[in-house]
Order: sequence, then structure tokens, then C-alpha cells
Amino acid sequence: MSEIIFSDTLATQNLRGKVVVLTGGAQGIGAATVTLLHQLGAHIFFGDLDTSKALALQSSLTSSPSPDSGTIHFLPLDVTSYSSQLSLFDLALSHHPQIDIAIQLVGVPEPPGNYFSPSHLNLTTVRDEPLPLKQNIDINLTSVILFSRIALAYLSSTPGSNKSIILTSSIAGITEAPGLFSYSSAKHGVIGLMRSLRRFTPSQFNGIRVNAICPWATDTQMLGGVKKNWEKENMPMNTPKDVAKMILQCAADETLNGKAVFVGGGRGFDTEEGIDRTLPEWMGKENAEVFLRGQEVLGLGGDWVDK
Ligand SMILES: NC(=O)c1ccc[n+]([C@@H]2O[C@H](COP(=O)([O-])OP(=O)(O)OC[C@H]3O[C@@H](n4cnc5c(N)ncnc54)[C@H](O)[C@@H]3O)[C@@H](O)[C@H]2O)c1
Repeated sequence: MSEIIFSDTLATQNLRGKVVVLTGGAQGIGAATVTLLHQLGAHIFFGDLDTSKALALQSSLTSSPSPDSGTIHFLPLDVTSYSSQLSLFDLALSHHPQIDIAIQLVGVPEPPGNYFSPSHLNLTTVRDEPLPLKQNIDINLTSVILFSRIALAYLSSTPGSNKSIILTSSIAGITEAPGLFSYSSAKHGVIGLMRSLRRFTPSQFNGIRVNAICPWATDTQMLGGVKKNWEKENMPMNTPKDVAKMILQCAADETLNGKAVFVGGGRGFDTEEGIDRTLPEWMGKENAEVFLRGQEVLGLGGDWVDK
């Protein structure tokens, strides 16, 4: 398992002056990421549903800037609206000739409602369509696919180098997560999206890199009711800043592409390396050989859809 270490020097060198579009920066991991980027001198354009928390963050950062601080703009945003996501990228382009980094951070927890509870699910309750489960997928996965598409267009069509997209999955996107039925499905989808893009975008979109961040328990409002027991059991907890540093490392380090960075207890590890390396073990040696040949035949997947 390869550890990913945050380098302050590299972040300072490669992120100062960069133009960053970020969704979900009003609080939690997003706010920590906005704060670090601002301190490093990046120009941030962030969107969030929570306007009051976003404006409070923006004013606290701009009220006491250091000489190295970058600029920061906020746009009220609902990621389920495609045009709303487009507007955020347009806002960045109205101030700068290029966009360098796109960071997707919005996520919402499993909706309450006992949709899979054996004590609630029966032949009567099953007749009500569970719309909150669909909305959860809409926010946690559909909007991420659309964000990636928009980001590729804006990053590849504007000048600059060392460009990248960072998507946010979860430990629940890598492993089983009973209780998180829609959330975990969506977060697995984010890893799938990153895997579909990681060979494709560097060659088809001017070297754009794509990585996914997969936090384990992180001290934000999202932990909700789980937090008390987690702390009581003395389980490892990330600070939002720990996760933000891994996001910055993915943005700064030109060698990082196609990683799924598990962040636990404050440290980051690429889980894809182990999955790829042990392919013959979990798929079977012969299956793995044929599968890899099949991947070569499929190439970058241009034949899946009609041209
Ligand atoms: N906190 C954890 O333990 C943890 C663990 C694994 C993954 N994650 C992931 O990390 C990311 C950030 O999580 P966090 O813990 O900082 O959560 P958070 O709740 O603190 O922040 C999420 C932000 O997204 C915004 N948001 C929600 N719905 C939106 C929408 N439709 N449009 C625009 N903005 C919207 C919220 O207003 C909020 O500011 C999420 O994708 C989450 O799934 C968090």
C-alpha cells in the first residue's frame, strides 16, 4: 500500500496563482480545502447550497489576508442543476483566462426514512416510491458525472498545464457499508467514474489528471449520530484539514493520476495500487491475463457508443 504524503513545498510551488473551481466549500472538508488554497495563493471560485456559511467563510478569509493570499469568490449553487454548475465555471472564466483545477466535494448522507429497515419495509410501505434515495444518487453521483464533464471542457479549452480534477468518494465507495444503501452505491460510482477517466483524460484531454479522495471518519457534521460512539471507542478520526491536504497533494503532484486516496487517522494511502497489483489473486491468474488482453482490445472505449 503506498502512502501519499502532503508536501507543503510542492503545494506552495504548484498551487500559487492557480484558478480553482470547487463545489461544496461552505463547511467541513470543503471549507478546510478553500482555506488552505486561499492561504497558498490560489484563486478560488466555490459554490454551495449554504449561502450563509459560505459568505461567513469568505468574509473571515478575506478580512485578514496575508501577503500570499489568493482571491476568493462564492456563487450560490445547487449541484443538481447543470446550468448552476456551468455558471460556477463561467464565473471563474469571467475573472481569469484559464481554469486549472476542479474539485468536487459536495456530498450528502444517507436520507433518513428507514427505507431498508426490516421493521418498516413490508408490502404496504414498499408501494411508496422512495424519492429521497433517488435524490441521494442525484447529488452524490449524477451531479459528479456532470461536474466531471463540465470540468473537462473548461480545463481542456483554456491555457495552462498541470491540470487536474479531484472527485470525492468515501471509504464507503471502496468497501461494504451496511446502512448506507444509496450513499455507498453512489460513492462506489464515483470510484468507477474516476477509473473510467484515468487513462482516458490524460491522452484525450491534454494531460488532465483525475483522482478520487476517499475519507474515512472525518470530524464534520456529516458524521451525525455515529460520532459519539466512534469517539467513545477511540477510533481514528481525520480533521477536515487532514483530508484537505490530500486533496491539495493530488492537485499539486503531477505524478498522481488514477488514485483512490483512502484518508484515515490523518494519513493518505492509494488503494488502487494494491487492487491492481493483486488482480491475479482475486480474479484468478488465467482470468486476469485474458481480462488484461481484453482491456487492450477495448482501448480507450471509443467503440462503446456510436460516433
Ligand atoms: N465527514 C466524513 O466522515 C466523510 C467521510 C467520507 C466521505 N466524505 C465526503 O466528503 C465530502 C465532504 O463532506 P463533509 O464531511 O465535509 O460534509 P459537510 O456536510 O460538512 O459539507 C458538505 C457541503 O455540501 C453542501 N451541499 C449539500 N448538498 C448540496 C447541493 N445539492 N448543492 C450544493 N452544495 C450542497 C453543504 O451545504 C455542505 O457545505 C462529501 O462528498 C462526503 O460524502 C465525508
